[in-house]
Amino acid sequence: MRHFTSVHDVQDLNQLLKEAFELKKDPFKYEHLGKHKTICLLFFNSSLRTRLSSQKAAKNLGMEPIVFNINDEGWKIETEFGVVMDGDKTEHIKEAAGVIGRYADIIGVRAFPGLKDRTYDYSEPIIKQFIQYSGAPVVSLESATRHPLQSFADVITIEEFKKKERPKVVLSWAPHPKALPQSVPNSFAEWVIAAGYEVVITHPKGYELDPSFTKGATIEYDQNKAFEGADFIYGKNWSSYADYGKILNTDRSWTISAEKMKLTNDAKFMHCLPVRRNMIVTDEVIDSPNSIVLDEAENRTYSAQTVFKKILENLK
Ligand code: CP
Repeated sequence: MRHFTSVHDVQDLNQLLKEAFELKKDPFKYEHLGKHKTICLLFFNSSLRTRLSSQKAAKNLGMEPIVFNINDEGWKIETEFGVVMDGDKTEHIKEAAGVIGRYADIIGVRAFPGLKDRTYDYSEPIIKQFIQYSGAPVVSLESATRHPLQSFADVITIEEFKKKERPKVVLSWAPHPKALPQSVPNSFAEWVIAAGYEVVITHPKGYELDPSFTKGATIEYDQNKAFEGADFIYGKNWSSYADYGKILNTDRSWTISAEKMKLTNDAKFMHCLPVRRNMIVTDEVIDSPNSIVLDEAENRTYSAQTVFKKILENLK
């Protein structure tokens, strides 16, 4: 593996899962691999889990992590080409990426979408420019359209908790006061479809995701019907893809409640976190024994560690 930006960078998902479970059992088995190697973790946006789990994963492999909140602590970055840089942006991404590539053996990048221009966001300018200009392997720490380390951790967690070979996994939209990206649901859909689960996505009309991420999933507009017989409920808000970046619905009847969970096959509740309680999910559900949100967060270390290990093994 050279770069990691989506499930399409994974040659064999079953093998990757096997390696994740091996690392979870014995996290320091490969601590020699990262000796004298540096990973630079760049955050254009806030983070708790990604920031901490990536550092822990790097350290478990013997790597030295450098964390840089590039927007708050660095020069303001210009990402457009051919512009006269006479505004507030001091450094061009071409030089910034090139320089960081001289310091780091691996670069992790978190860069959220602006949610204003769909074509621009979905072209993934920041991750792609780091791949093009840094000369180093690049790992997505959540891009404009995907959050692959989260989705890999989600699949690890489903594998740990599933009681049948092919569980029914339901991705449910839920209300939120702010417009959020589609990156987590896009990515989750791609990974759980690739894992071969029965996948149902439920949301109000107008919240259809880009169909290129959901091919193979059933779309069900009736949330109660979608929940019937589910083994896993994955709650998440996202803004509209069609009416790009807009909040079209704030209907609190979509909040995941104990009553709705009763429709399921004693389903586990999942969410990537951070979560707004009593908007996305009620206290009763997230505090119940069926909530596995902390297990998912724990597995972020092993999804990152597995990916970093694959990249380190491939370094010349
Ligand atoms: N789930 C997740 O990526 O959390 P953070 O935004 O806190 O990193």
